[in-house]
Amino acid sequence: MGCKSSRHWIAKVDRIVNEEAGELSRSCPPQLSRHREGAEGGRGVLDGCNALVTGSTRGIGKAIAERLILEGASVIVTGRDDDAGHRLCQTMGPSAEFVSADLRSKADVARLVAVAVARNVDILVNNAGVYRFTSTQAVTVDEFDLLVDTNLRATFFLTQSVLESMRERRRGRVVNVTTTAAYRPNGDCSAYAATKAAVASLSKSWAAEYGRYGILVNTVAPGVIYTDTARSLGEDVLEEMAARASLRRIGTAEEVASAVFFLVSPSCSYTSGITLFVDGGMLVGV
Ligand SMILES: NC(=O)c1ccc[n+]([C@@H]2O[C@H](COP(=O)([O-])OP(=O)(O)OC[C@H]3O[C@@H](n4cnc5c(N)ncnc54)[C@H](OP(=O)(O)O)[C@@H]3O)[C@@H](O)[C@H]2O)c1
Repeated sequence: MGCKSSRHWIAKVDRIVNEEAGELSRSCPPQLSRHREGAEGGRGVLDGCNALVTGSTRGIGKAIAERLILEGASVIVTGRDDDAGHRLCQTMGPSAEFVSADLRSKADVARLVAVAVARNVDILVNNAGVYRFTSTQAVTVDEFDLLVDTNLRATFFLTQSVLESMRERRRGRVVNVTTTAAYRPNGDCSAYAATKAAVASLSKSWAAEYGRYGILVNTVAPGVIYTDTARSLGEDVLEEMAARASLRRIGTAEEVASAVFFLVSPSCSYTSGITLFVDGGMLVGV
């Protein structure tokens, strides 16, 4: 009886894996040998995939967009600065399309949703975020609203619509970018950390709710990553934070992009609801 049940499950899993592999290979063939040619020169593992990366005009989001394009995806790049966004997309090539949107604006989020659904987005990376290092006593209502509206509300409602579109197509990957501060808070970022902890919770809820439709939802939690905005906190602050990582250094946006790429690639087919830390070992400490 036990053996029969095992055989039944093995056959069932074989069927699912074969169907999934067929589906992936139709749209994103895993031809690793050619993927280094990138979108300009040929096909990559994400060839045929459509991605939306929020907050991709600079920093970590820009590195993610560039990596997904290198791997063959078409990417919607988004941010608030129209001129800078269009200029950037010209340098990224024909696989990048800029859509300006202020994620604090409900109308802009609705417009971005319409583009994402029209493009059949199958990879959504919720990267846009604002961070402030403010002590609890110094957080104003305006600052709290800024953090919640950008980091949490926009992520929820953008993903709500994109998930529905992915559900209809029975395929999709969502990656939410949070922070190690959501798991191991350090001083003066209680409001920011709370918004990212909420996003991490959403990832797990969505992974549970949408797994049955073949949709994988995961989280990437960066530690200290060298971007212009992070640098504005002060080199000494970054150095002090980097010293808390077991690798004793700050990370790069490209290293975060590699983690995101893994989670949206065909190599990642049975992982959902996890948090992948890109923190140089910050959580284990020194
Ligand atoms: N850097 C780090 O050390 C670090 C560590 C942990 C987690 N993170 C997280 O990683 C993500 C990216 O960080 P980063 O350092 O790369 O940030 P960044 O350099 O400041 O870039 C933020 C991006 O988000 C966009 N953005 C900000 N507010 C927006 C709004 N209201 N509407 C639309 N787009 C908006 C910005 O574009 P525009 O300004 O053009 O709108 C920009 O493209 C954030 O979610 C952050 O919390 C970063």
